[in-house]
Amino acid sequence: MNKKTFFLIIWIGLLGYSSRISAQNWQAPADAINVQNPVKPTEQSIKNGQQIYQRLCVACHGIHGDGQGPAAAGLNPKPVDFHSNAFHAQTDGEIFWKLSKGRGAMAGYENMLNEKDRWDLVNYLRSLAGKPAPVDGLKSQKTDTDTETGNPHRHFPFSYAGLNVTTSLVPQGKMAFVIQHRFGAVKTDENALRNFLGLDLAANTRLALAWGLTRRLSVEIGRTRYGKFYDLTAGYDLSPWTGPKIRSVIYASVAVMTDRFTPVGDSARFADGRPFAYRFEHRLYYDMRLLFSYATGKWSLQAGLQMDWRNLAPPNGPGPNGRGVIHETNLLWAVPLSIRYKSGLRSAWDLDIAPTGRAHTLPFALSYEIVSSGNHLFAITLSNTDRILPLMQISHNHFRPGKDGLLLGFNIIRYF
Ligand code: HEC
Repeated sequence: MNKKTFFLIIWIGLLGYSSRISAQNWQAPADAINVQNPVKPTEQSIKNGQQIYQRLCVACHGIHGDGQGPAAAGLNPKPVDFHSNAFHAQTDGEIFWKLSKGRGAMAGYENMLNEKDRWDLVNYLRSLAGKPAPVDGLKSQKTDTDTETGNPHRHFPFSYAGLNVTTSLVPQGKMAFVIQHRFGAVKTDENALRNFLGLDLAANTRLALAWGLTRRLSVEIGRTRYGKFYDLTAGYDLSPWTGPKIRSVIYASVAVMTDRFTPVGDSARFADGRPFAYRFEHRLYYDMRLLFSYATGKWSLQAGLQMDWRNLAPPNGPGPNGRGVIHETNLLWAVPLSIRYKSGLRSAWDLDIAPTGRAHTLPFALSYEIVSSGNHLFAITLSNTDRILPLMQISHNHFRPGKDGLLLGFNIIRYF
């Protein structure tokens, strides 16, 4: 028997075995079912149960007990939903017996946890009865716990605060409606009051819709007022590869400016005498970002690498009329960095900077985020760029604080 057939037989055997298990209803013996729970479901007991749960059980059962933990995908049978009626139809004794004895992928915790801890776990699981799992996108803020990994840390939520997209995607099956608004400059001169919200000044706005297609993939489309940009972004969660402590996501975006370039006269020439022409009528942008985040205590850090490309014509060459040089380059790099401080259960401060290869420009933003009890997230931002798309923030000139003033803005996100 060669190696291949050998593994094939083992594989088929395993399949058969696992389907046999899933076909069976898992039942505790009668004497276990009748055991009374000796531990009262006090707040303390439930809390202890929850802590053990977050340490040992989330990988499969999910942070909210919905059976959607990161390790659950490959399991057969799948972990049950601890919110379901079927689960709660059992007696405490039966649940206790199951988590003590285990079956298949579900280990028995008899030898790892003492009886009191196991009853605390039962009390905790019982406390989930009738409570639907909360909306994912905001879970990390509401519960102080990282959703996907079950890590009791605070990573960056999907908030659009400041400059950066974050290492949080819109959860599977959910949609987020995004409004981003950048008012004009807020200056401290005689017009300060009049300009305070920048209401009389030109403002940039973006509307976008993002949705989680799968557990790891989300897409977003948007439209920005300046330049009439349409943008499309896909984000893919790499966290399973970076482990439970570090979250990471890769993003790829394209944006097309539907406003045309300003026309140049017929006499415009490149330096070598050829007639000047744009390569494309519309400007195109491409952006790739690889982001990592780490959270500890109330602090979270996010760092990444950003690469932007756009179709200027010609790169670093002479401008129209053969005079001057187009200083902008087609390829740009940036290192987006963010630091986030969770100031409360529903609020956080966020500071972003994105050092780039270009001189004289350092995009930055300081934001304050608030999550409402529903599915809303609100952020107010002070920044030196009026560009909203991340891929344009590093390529455009920036306001100089003190000289040009700063830009005030806000973001609103609504989950569905
Ligand atoms: C490696 C993945 C994994 C981990 C870790 C894990 N479980 Fe499970 N659990 C499962 C799977 C899979 C099932 C379904 C088993 C079956 O039906 O054969 C299950 C079933 C259960 C059940 C029975 C549900 C029912 O009514 O059928 C309970 C209770 C339970 N787990 C509690 C826990 C607790 C408490 C912890 C942590 C101390 C834990 N599990 C850790 C995978 C896991």
